[in-house]
Amino acid sequence: MTGQMTDLTTLESELSARIAAASDLAALDAVRIDALGKQGSVSALLKGMGALSPDERRVQGPLINGLRDRVTTAIAERKAALETAELDARLQSERVDLTLPPPPRRAGSVHPTMQVMDEMVAIFAEMGFDVKEGPDIEDDFHNFTALNFPPRHPAREMHDTFFFKPDPVTGERKLLRTHTSPVQVRTMQATNSRPPAPWIAAGQSPPIRIVVPGRTYRCDSDQTHTPMFHQMEGLVIDKGIHMGHLKWTLETFISRFFEGQVGARFRPHHFPFTEPSAEMDIQCDRSGGEVKVGQGSDWLEILGCGMVHPNVLRNCGIDPNEYQGFAFGMGIDRLGMLKYGMPDLRDMFASDTRWLAHYGFSPFAAPTAASGLS
Ligand code: DAH
Repeated sequence: MTGQMTDLTTLESELSARIAAASDLAALDAVRIDALGKQGSVSALLKGMGALSPDERRVQGPLINGLRDRVTTAIAERKAALETAELDARLQSERVDLTLPPPPRRAGSVHPTMQVMDEMVAIFAEMGFDVKEGPDIEDDFHNFTALNFPPRHPAREMHDTFFFKPDPVTGERKLLRTHTSPVQVRTMQATNSRPPAPWIAAGQSPPIRIVVPGRTYRCDSDQTHTPMFHQMEGLVIDKGIHMGHLKWTLETFISRFFEGQVGARFRPHHFPFTEPSAEMDIQCDRSGGEVKVGQGSDWLEILGCGMVHPNVLRNCGIDPNEYQGFAFGMGIDRLGMLKYGMPDLRDMFASDTRWLAHYGFSPFAAPTAASGLS
């Protein structure tokens, strides 16, 4: 009897020592299994009670149950202590020192396309042009038909047009505009007095003097083409407008934009919406591997232009016998590449922050004709 009690006392002090020594939750769980698990030492004592006589059980029962309760409590207390210590350690290691200065943040910059767009608008605004915008999603009428593209003409496909699925009811196929020229139509249509949104070109009767910057889309991608790019359209409609006005406007624009005298020449070309039509080339030097504008004896095509076709005027409700006009269209990103020496158009829309940090402009230096452009 006394021997049995000694055994219990020894077992208890042994277990207590192991519980106190358990340095983490895994070690503590091993002690729990050794004592209270199915094969555990305390569980064996509990099982052994069945074999005792009723008298022995009366004495041994409370001793063994007491042992089990104290061991269970000791394990629970040690577990809580270990968990608290673990949490404290994590809080300590994940501590944030709010008194430290914040890490350096990269300042934002103006994207070259937006900078160039602002520079172009500043020059044309000084010449008396207004800015108009139009929707990116267009219909066949404004993008092609009103601009004198013949029906079912391959030019519609040649523009690498992104078409939407046909409307299930009307069969109409909307498209992403392939150029900014549809805004010419939207501006000239005097009946279009209620535009779909306040910033979209409303109808206007002549005289008209507008530039139209905006996104345009064609299914094309290489070093000088991206599926989305930016164009600026120009339109002037008044009485007695002729090619001389067109030539002066564009030559003046190009020299102001490149901030120096730049030679230009006009080559005959074809566009359905102008007659006569021309492409303008600017003087450049290609000898050093890169293109230098305003020097040398090479030529680089920069824009399309012409006198607005009488059919386009008629399609927009303007009498070609009374009014004439000129129009032009050019790639904004491409002009930026030339002015600021960016070799690949695709980089402009890759959202690489290193590229943006290198080629971006200060938001505090907006270009104006008076303060300088770049
Ligand atoms: N829309 C033409 C294009 O994207 C560019 C253009 C050429 C616009 C001549 C014009 C123009 O207004 O007169 O290729």
